[in-house]
Amino acid sequence: MQKIVRFSRPAAILGLCALFIVCAVCRKGDQDSGPSRAKTSAFDKLAQTPPLGWNSWNKFGCNVDEKMIRGMAEAMVSRGLKAAGYEYVVIDDCWQISRDERGDILADPERFPSGIKALAAYIHSLGLKFGLNSCAGTKTCAGRPGSQGYEEQDARQYAAWGVDYLQYNWCHTEGLVAQPAYKKMRAALESAGRPIVFSICEWGRSEPWLWAKGVGHLWRTTGDIEDKWESIIKILDLQAGLEGYAGPGHWNDPDMLEVGNGGLTFEESKAHFSLWCLLAAPLMAGNDLRSMTKEAAFILTNKDVIAVDQDKLGVQGRRLRQDGPSEVWVKPLADLSKAVVLLNRGPAPAEISVSWKELGVETSTAEVRDLWLRNDLGRFLGGYSAKVPSHGVVMVKVKASNIVL
Ligand code: GAL
Repeated sequence: MQKIVRFSRPAAILGLCALFIVCAVCRKGDQDSGPSRAKTSAFDKLAQTPPLGWNSWNKFGCNVDEKMIRGMAEAMVSRGLKAAGYEYVVIDDCWQISRDERGDILADPERFPSGIKALAAYIHSLGLKFGLNSCAGTKTCAGRPGSQGYEEQDARQYAAWGVDYLQYNWCHTEGLVAQPAYKKMRAALESAGRPIVFSICEWGRSEPWLWAKGVGHLWRTTGDIEDKWESIIKILDLQAGLEGYAGPGHWNDPDMLEVGNGGLTFEESKAHFSLWCLLAAPLMAGNDLRSMTKEAAFILTNKDVIAVDQDKLGVQGRRLRQDGPSEVWVKPLADLSKAVVLLNRGPAPAEISVSWKELGVETSTAEVRDLWLRNDLGRFLGGYSAKVPSHGVVMVKVKASNIVL
């Protein structure tokens, strides 16, 4: 029997008034300026999964202009990246040229004749988000004006332009200490009032994984990636052991992707992308999306592999085992399954296996899905083994089976 509680009319009116007052106070809190709780939490809620997008640096360096950036945003939609979850279009260094008499940062008028605000609005009109790069020092790495001494002014400008993402570098910072310098920009962004993903880029020098949670949403852990296999492997090795520092809203960043830039074979590109997804890395494509090959698009838009990166549990994968050039990497997922990358770093194909026991799968059989073939392979007893090409991976999802043999 349901119990029905009846209120007298005055009590009900009093109750309604109290509710109204409480709501009004809450709303006022939302609207107050300054780093209010509401704004802080808007910032803290950003990047609950690693950001996905595109950045100009790896392919274009300083050669950026509004026509190319517009084209890249359009290609992000037409080549299926938006549908696969990519969101941010970020102009790296060299969009800025000087400051005006008030100290406001100015975009290069020849390369960005319509201005940054119009460019951001166009990118937003495509359902995407827009990002810029700056630097904690006096100059950017390419020698353009940096933000030192202009943090709040720049943050206000970014907010007014509609910027959603800021990559903040560490060149020309003589005399500065990373933690306070990045905290300063984070506070400036927060008080400018627009939620902006804050990407810390000091190449891992001050071990930002130890202090940057709550300051940036992601932090680079290494120097710049290069478009070659040795660089991918070197960066990968530097990620092992950092897995405990990442989680929703705060990610280790092993740098942007080189898929589609020509220096990696198809297998190497798949391996690079698989490993970045296993590491819950931010996925910033770095190639020319307008002219990319079908193979590059196939890799960048594989929804099964991206789902590993974007998994809601937000746990960065780790190296489980290393036997010479053969490695096994594992990432626990929210549905209690495990993503597994079998990596062959060696010069010849290799058979690599993983047992359910070492994965912590408690049933004797488990379902295996190959994430590149996008195919359920069936139920396997005790473990899984595959022939892995040289400089390549096999990536599977392993889920404990309900059927006990
Ligand atoms: C580097 C940074 C790159 C890119 C470049 C621009 O320091 O690591 O990702 O932003 O500066 O000059």
